[in-house]
Amino acid sequence: MVVSLAPRITAVAPSSTLAITAKAKALKAQGVDVVNLAGGEPDCDTPAHIKQAAIAAIQEGFTKYTPTAGIPDLRAAVAKTLTADLGVPYQASEVVVTNGAKQALYNALQVLCRPGDEVLIPSPYWVSYPEMVTLAGGTPVFVKTSQADRFRLTVESVERAVTAKTRLLLLNSPSNPTGSVLPKASLLPLADLVARRGLVVISDEIYDQLSYDEPHVSIAACHPALRAQTLIVNGVSKAFAMTGWRIGWAAGPQPLIDAMITLQDHATSNASSISQRAALAALTGDRSTITRMAEEFKHRRDLLVEALRTVPGLSCVPPQGAFYAFCDISASGLSSTVFAERLLTERHVAVIPGAGFGWDTHIRLSFCTSRAALEEGVRRLRAFLEAL
Ligand SMILES: Cc1ncc(COP(=O)(O)O)c(C=O)c1O
Repeated sequence: MVVSLAPRITAVAPSSTLAITAKAKALKAQGVDVVNLAGGEPDCDTPAHIKQAAIAAIQEGFTKYTPTAGIPDLRAAVAKTLTADLGVPYQASEVVVTNGAKQALYNALQVLCRPGDEVLIPSPYWVSYPEMVTLAGGTPVFVKTSQADRFRLTVESVERAVTAKTRLLLLNSPSNPTGSVLPKASLLPLADLVARRGLVVISDEIYDQLSYDEPHVSIAACHPALRAQTLIVNGVSKAFAMTGWRIGWAAGPQPLIDAMITLQDHATSNASSISQRAALAALTGDRSTITRMAEEFKHRRDLLVEALRTVPGLSCVPPQGAFYAFCDISASGLSSTVFAERLLTERHVAVIPGAGFGWDTHIRLSFCTSRAALEEGVRRLRAFLEAL
């Protein structure tokens, strides 16, 4: 018998970023010297004092269920961090701790989307956004940005996309996959529009600590009405090199947070008790590791941008944040999927095809890998393009 699946899952595509990473890992396991520019996580280890907090939690027997919304100390620490970092006041009760930022986004869309609600998603977008919207019964509506505008969302393009059915705007600054950062001057008119049209913003700020050229600004801080209309999503994954620990959070209006907690009660309950203690140590302990990591990524960004300038047939906007560069490969005449597959097979360089981010003319290169790997990756990329 063939098990038949629910339409809600058959309508959804598997994650393209995870697929190419798996292929690269398989090649590496066979002994092939793969340069991995496909990754989506810092290459450094979780800082020692954070690991120690987790070890202490295990040794103390802090290994039972916690409240679904998270341990009170961690919710308070998140509220304090957001208040300090964004300049917008949050209470501990307005925070829910989730299994990674991904679950915060997923749960938010599940409790917000009504059938037919339109969700504006700036394009290029992180692969999971449209699928999460579809899974929640909403309709993704893409708002295209342009390479000429450095992939920055403009208020005019959002205004054009808004209809009577528009309910939500998803923002991601710094962005995956473009590394684009929305400065205050771009956020202010967007905030006015959101306030005027009564939209809800989900602001995915998971890369907030990795903004290289100007300080990160949250849309929640850009209009007095927006605190009540914005859900901030963040977590420890990228800033503290803690992708495997699975701790994220959302902060926002109380009724929305309460609904997300109810959903989580019936879905996964609390995030790991041990990881919550580790995240608490991350937020309350020494933050110099974040600064050092961000400085290193900035150097790598500069190195990659300089190296890519010398590659004919590739055009790339210097990313201002996160750890990705989104490069135009249309001069090659290949689709992004064929380009990425051939680059991996022929030159052993893993990159992510832009198709999964809605742009088949581009590829995404990660610079969360060593400087030597970046140099070698670009050398092989140049050789690949020259041989086409
Ligand atoms: C834009 C964006 N949002 C959210 C996430 C998910 O973060 P987490 O690992 O905390 O679930 C990622 C991870 O790659 C991301 O790139």
